[in-house]
Amino acid sequence: MIIAIDGPAGSGKSSTARAVAARLGAVYLDTGAMYRAVTLKALRLGVAHTDDEALAAVMRGTEIVFEGAPPDTRIIMDGEDVSRPVRTDEVTKSVSDYCARDVVRRALVEQQRKIAAGHTVVCEGRDICTVVFPNAEVKIYMTASVEERANRRQKDFAATGINKSLEELISEIETRDRKDSTRANSPLTKAEGAIEMDTTGMTLDEQIEFIARLANKYMS
Ligand code: DC
Repeated sequence: MIIAIDGPAGSGKSSTARAVAARLGAVYLDTGAMYRAVTLKALRLGVAHTDDEALAAVMRGTEIVFEGAPPDTRIIMDGEDVSRPVRTDEVTKSVSDYCARDVVRRALVEQQRKIAAGHTVVCEGRDICTVVFPNAEVKIYMTASVEERANRRQKDFAATGINKSLEELISEIETRDRKDSTRANSPLTKAEGAIEMDTTGMTLDEQIEFIARLANKYMS
């Protein structure tokens, strides 16, 4: 069974998907982390997002795997645990440019399907219900107001000792939303048949319960 969750940055996808996967004993597949890992590697190598040839070489020469059961799943790139480095501001600001490239998306979508084959999976991203797993048993489009999403990001940053103003975060989120929803290749959009879930004002427990109930309905 596949539970597919799409939605914009900060809508609550990651924390909810991770917890639902832990509860169901499912594989947790964070596709955003994969796009972030490729971005990190390209930035380290000085490969521009417009250089398709060099990006193709990066895709061929990079191994991305997940280790550990949710909620403690880690992303490993070429043997290095990059779970923290992929969350830096630098990667966050550049990832929308790299993930829009055909050569990057083709390779990662193929890998995502391989990781999921034969498993119960909770998978989250931007094109999961529309492109990667359009036949997923449970499809969810998660949203929240931009103010709520900026608030959540501010708390996440504060936990790592970084202070950012809400205005700055709202502007960053809006820029990323715009890039992710207007790109030519697999833009973020609500898939046909996806259930819309607005998490503004919902607690994490309520979000987990909402999805677990949908999954249980399918399984029973
Ligand atoms: O969910 P996130 O913030 O970690 O995702 C990072 C970026 O990756 C986001 O700007 C959009 C992109 N992404 C994508 O294009 N397709 C996905 N399936 C997942 C993420």
